[in-house]
Amino acid sequence: MIQLLANTRSKEYPIYLSGGALEESGDLWRSLGRGGKVVIITDSNVAGICLSQVEDSFRAAGVEVDNIVVDAGEGAKSISQASQLYSRLFEMDTRRCDTVCALGGGVVGDLAGFVASTYMRGIGLIQIPTTLLSQVDSSIGGKVGINIEEAKNYVGSFYQPDIVITDPNLLRTLPPEQLSEGLAEVVKYTLLYGEDFFEALEVSYTRFQGLDMAFVEPVIRRCIEYKLAVVSEDERDRGRRAVLNLGHSVGHGIEAAGRYKAYSHGQAVALGLLAALRLSYEVLQLDPEYRDRLRVLLDALGLPVRLEGVDAGEVLSAMASDKKADDTSANMVLLRELGEPVINCDVSATQLEYAVNSLMAVEQGR
Ligand SMILES: NC(=O)c1ccc[n+]([C@@H]2O[C@H](COP(=O)([O-])OP(=O)(O)OC[C@H]3O[C@@H](n4cnc5c(N)ncnc54)[C@H](O)[C@@H]3O)[C@@H](O)[C@H]2O)c1
Repeated sequence: MIQLLANTRSKEYPIYLSGGALEESGDLWRSLGRGGKVVIITDSNVAGICLSQVEDSFRAAGVEVDNIVVDAGEGAKSISQASQLYSRLFEMDTRRCDTVCALGGGVVGDLAGFVASTYMRGIGLIQIPTTLLSQVDSSIGGKVGINIEEAKNYVGSFYQPDIVITDPNLLRTLPPEQLSEGLAEVVKYTLLYGEDFFEALEVSYTRFQGLDMAFVEPVIRRCIEYKLAVVSEDERDRGRRAVLNLGHSVGHGIEAAGRYKAYSHGQAVALGLLAALRLSYEVLQLDPEYRDRLRVLLDALGLPVRLEGVDAGEVLSAMASDKKADDTSANMVLLRELGEPVINCDVSATQLEYAVNSLMAVEQGR
């Protein structure tokens, strides 16, 4: 069992990573010495896959456990769903000494984390991420929240969990498109981390797709370690944490311009990474060969490498009205080298327009 330590200003907590960690979740939780009961919040898909296993594990460790199942899908990240959860927790007589366990992907993690952070001004929180995206990204770092009608992730807080239990075996039931979603983030980490990690994925991506755990587990570990290092330095997203937005400024623009239907988040991030590498070449003279290699890798991972059916102009206007407008046209995360991200890079409107437009072209040259 791999044990990593998150060391943020607000809290220190362990992250356990191992195939089979799920069955040990009760003991792992008990080892922290906390009392109270655990209320598992999960979604309607995940409930059928592993809820009983997790409940059994907690009961076997002598922990009182209960559950609440919400509908699967982004729609659950709403104030009305949060409000229902507060009422259910109240009906269950949940007290300050009790703990919420988020068992699911990023939606459940964000929603249950937000509820845990606000119910009785904050109760315990266990994150058990079940998608690749949540294992490498959303379960770490304490960003929790919900959507409002007008915009995604507009209401939330920073609230670190007490423990994260990550079991890569859970990825075996994940639909292939969900694995690709997470792989877009994994690719982002490889670019941020450096040449050797990028190359390892480039060479062995089929081992990831085939869920060869001897490859998958160390890859997830590196992603978690990278995020931990960034978050421990900048928990509240005031500086270095911005590096995690690599590819996301253009990505968010693409998602919004496609009305969140044309492109999923991971697909949009894949295109955003390509745009970021083009700009990294223009602005920071990053070797353009990396963009070619990235395109080949994304394509092999089943992610888009060409913007289709969404207007580049709309992407640019969506970026201009994005909540992180200060990260978009004027300020973006780019790479000087693989493993050398630079935040707040000045990008002119013309350079940005060129990079987004170039996503629509069939790439031949540079
Ligand atoms: N807090 C953060 O730092 C952060 C970072 C990135 C993304 N997010 C958020 O994460 C959310 C997306 O997360 P996601 O991609 O995990 O989506 P998700 O939680 O909706 O999960 C995707 C789908 O997979 C199903 N599923 C989950 N685990 C499964 C399993 N093991 N086997 C089979 N099916 C399974 C779910 O029921 C759902 O239908 C977004 O709301 C996004 O805003 C948060």
